Amino acid sequence: MRAAATLMRLIPEVTSIKPDTKPVVVCDLGSGDVIGLLSHINKLNSSDIVAANGVGVDYDAALIDDAGLKSKLEGVDAKWLVYDFNADENDIVTQLVTNHLVTHVFIYLTPKQLALPTVRKILTRFCGSKMVVCCYKYFPLYLKPVRRDLVMDLVVFDETSQGGKREDFF
Ligand SMILES: C[S@@+](CC[C@H](N)C(=O)[O-])C[C@H]1O[C@@H](n2cnc3c(N)ncnc32)[C@H](O)[C@@H]1O
Repeated sequence: MRAAATLMRLIPEVTSIKPDTKPVVVCDLGSGDVIGLLSHINKLNSSDIVAANGVGVDYDAALIDDAGLKSKLEGVDAKWLVYDFNADENDIVTQLVTNHLVTHVFIYLTPKQLALPTVRKILTRFCGSKMVVCCYKYFPLYLKPVRRDLVMDLVVFDETSQGGKREDFF
């Protein structure tokens, strides 16, 4: 989570460099790892930066209930949505961009899920909405990576990733 936050430039790699000071809203598309991410960001950033908050999205209602409880216990500012992004019946991109003002998205999904047309559309629209998208372990083949952490198996995509291919980078 710390490596993901660093690769998304949410915490400084060198302590003398200030990270982005815009309000940060992090989403974990698929479960509650947003708690770990927020803890790292808010622990490592200085107090003059507005604390980051987050949104967790998963179709597993029990998992969302547990994550909601855990975030309360840990004092983490996060909202939780039970939502199936494969069906995407209520336009998750607009919900996250307009209602939750999400700026960064963390994703750990299988290659099969990443290749689904609905997921492809969602990830492409995230990049088009100027969000920073960080994928762990498996990466979409239809977006051009902008940064990677080889050791931690993380790749970041942004607004420049649309219409590119991974071959342009690797
Ligand atoms: C590999 S786990 C990742 C868990 C966590 N983000 C992590 O990094 O350890 C994938 C998660 O995505 C959720 N998921 C898979 N397909 C989904 C879908 N169509 N809609 C919502 N959540 C989904 C699963 O319930 C699961 O919690």
